[in-house]
Amino acid sequence: MRYGSSLLPSLALSLPNNMGSRRWSLLCIALILLVGVSSYEQSMGGSILGWGEQGEGELFAYPRNAPSCPSTDQSLYYLPVIGIVTHPGDGASGRLSNATGVSNIPASYVKFVESAGARVIPLIFNEPEETLREKLSLVNGVLFTGGWAKKGLYYETIKRVFEITLERNDAGDHFPLFAICLGFELLSMIISKDRDICERFQGENQASALYFPDFAEIQGSVFERFPRELLRKLSTDCLAMQNHKFGLSPKRLQDNDALASFFRILTTSKDENDKVYISTAQAYNYPVTAFQWHPEKNAFEWGLSVIPHSEDAVRVTQHVANYFISEARRSLNRPLADKVLDNLIYNYSPTYCGRAGKGYDEVYIFS
Ligand SMILES: *[C@@H]1O[C@H](CO)[C@@H](O)[C@H](O)[C@H]1NC(C)=O
Repeated sequence: MRYGSSLLPSLALSLPNNMGSRRWSLLCIALILLVGVSSYEQSMGGSILGWGEQGEGELFAYPRNAPSCPSTDQSLYYLPVIGIVTHPGDGASGRLSNATGVSNIPASYVKFVESAGARVIPLIFNEPEETLREKLSLVNGVLFTGGWAKKGLYYETIKRVFEITLERNDAGDHFPLFAICLGFELLSMIISKDRDICERFQGENQASALYFPDFAEIQGSVFERFPRELLRKLSTDCLAMQNHKFGLSPKRLQDNDALASFFRILTTSKDENDKVYISTAQAYNYPVTAFQWHPEKNAFEWGLSVIPHSEDAVRVTQHVANYFISEARRSLNRPLADKVLDNLIYNYSPTYCGRAGKGYDEVYIFS
């Protein structure tokens, strides 16, 4: 019964064209008020008849029989926390720190999670495994960021966190993982057990479209709740920020049994040489989504001039973030509040490093 909200703009829009006389416009305004008030009454549990009996003085009085606020869905968790694995280095090419063992999280990933109603706990990649496991016990989902590190302890940590993610899901929790850019490449390497599964692509510093090989397959994926009109724009406009030298081709995925049975392709994109790579993939049996592109950048990074910042581009960021956190709300993990507070990213401060006009705008540093 919320037709009033969709009717109002069209009435208001038709006003300037149809305005023949002052009387006509007054009539229109009266009509708008009537529709607005009656739809307000209905959505608040009142009725058109009841409104007629109240008299003008009570037009804006709070409805007498307003229902109490409906209770929230008990099966969902409204305090979700996301673990983000830190990446080696200061995230600013040494401008902030050259210390060994330093790691970072670009603040855009944190804002991305926060914008959809969740909080972040940093999973510092070079902390002892015991600490990592304890922090993982406090979160409802995990995010792997972009970056460049593909070897050593960072690789091992990503592999371990990925394995724990699968274990948690196998044990009955709904524990989502978003793997972005490098995160996708690392998952491809880990799942295929082939460190060379990714190929060279010219995908640096460019915005691209996302091509949907099969629109029907968006059910149960990050694109499920995108408005149709925005999905169409994704495949025609360049709304996805790409910044990668490597990627996974559809052929390499299909030729590798482990990868082909783990991921289905949601979207593909083309690099500068029209070479096709998988830009979004969804696991068949786990709430794991992999992105070669950067859903977090459109709303929160400004260092590269090609990052799309149009209203549509920002809506893409918002829809992807909302999906991620809606998945995290389904997690059954209920950590101790005190332990969460002790480990939240609010115990750290981001540093602005975007003045240099390149790279990330703000990073959290862990040393
Ligand atoms: C890190 O090293 C580079 C190259 O030597 C230097 O330019 C930069 O100032 C150093 N950064 C810090 C924070 O000291």
